[in-house]
Amino acid sequence: MKPTPLIIDTDPGIDDAVAIALALYAPELDVKLITTVAGNVGIEATTGNALKLLAYYGKDVPVAKGAAAPLIRQPEDASDIHGATGMEGFDFPEPKTELLLEKNAVEAMRDVLMVAEEPITIMPIGPLTNIALLLKVYPEVKPQIKEIVLMGGSVTRGNKGVMAEFNIYVDPEAAKIVLDSGLKITMATLDAGLGTVIPPEQTAKLKDMGKVGLMSHDLFQRYRKRSFGTGLKMYDSCAVACMLQPDLFTMQETYVDVELAGSLTAGCTVADLKGYLKHEPNATVTTGVDSERFCAWFMERMAQCD
Ligand code: RIB
Ligand code: CA
Repeated sequence: MKPTPLIIDTDPGIDDAVAIALALYAPELDVKLITTVAGNVGIEATTGNALKLLAYYGKDVPVAKGAAAPLIRQPEDASDIHGATGMEGFDFPEPKTELLLEKNAVEAMRDVLMVAEEPITIMPIGPLTNIALLLKVYPEVKPQIKEIVLMGGSVTRGNKGVMAEFNIYVDPEAAKIVLDSGLKITMATLDAGLGTVIPPEQTAKLKDMGKVGLMSHDLFQRYRKRSFGTGLKMYDSCAVACMLQPDLFTMQETYVDVELAGSLTAGCTVADLKGYLKHEPNATVTTGVDSERFCAWFMERMAQCD
């Protein structure tokens, strides 16, 4: 089977680092480009982290630096969770700077999309600023986008504030542009991510699972350090799993909008699961995950990353 061409837009980020490995080592996927965005940490750090990961994985994928801030709002990061560098806890090699393109992420995505022989899937696993800019500046790329499979949003409550998931919370205006684009969208939501806990007895096995396993084990000791003992949630890997093993999830096609004005709920993704708003569906959202099967899938895939 021909591998699916893929662009990853990311804010590494400890869970991004693992998701990027799963995608790069998956024979079903062909990663054409990695674009970076400010999110977990600032744009210089997320870009440097992407280049460090590629040096460590030994994968020569072009990287293009994207937005340093959301479209309108002030940047907010998650360095409290991922550390000041965004990938604290492991000693990476120097960034492979020769992979960094001169052009910015939007130009790079446009160029890759417009020469592609077949439509390309875009996998955003950070705030959606770059994707929104791409769609606004170069709408002609839309026929060249097969689908967007993103990690973000929730159909219930949030993890950044009461009702908002971090990736959407950081740039809700960008999320609205993407959700209103008419493109095929799958949202790997927080409701699935919360069920992807890798328990400590499994995390401990990662240490002996080759270089990606060792890296993940050491990063996880830093990531949400309160959780190492109780289990770690693989949010971004859910987007990869939606592509490679969608039957791990319960999903529903529905209409999703983004709250922009709420003083308490800005960034909340409103998933109209019962159809009250009478809009046509614009996304497929995950509403749950088979936690045990996800963990088995994750560990199996991690063992293949070598
Ligand atoms: O809410 C989880 C998301 O926020 C993940 O993408 C994680 O990397 C952070 O960016
Ligand atoms: Ca992320």
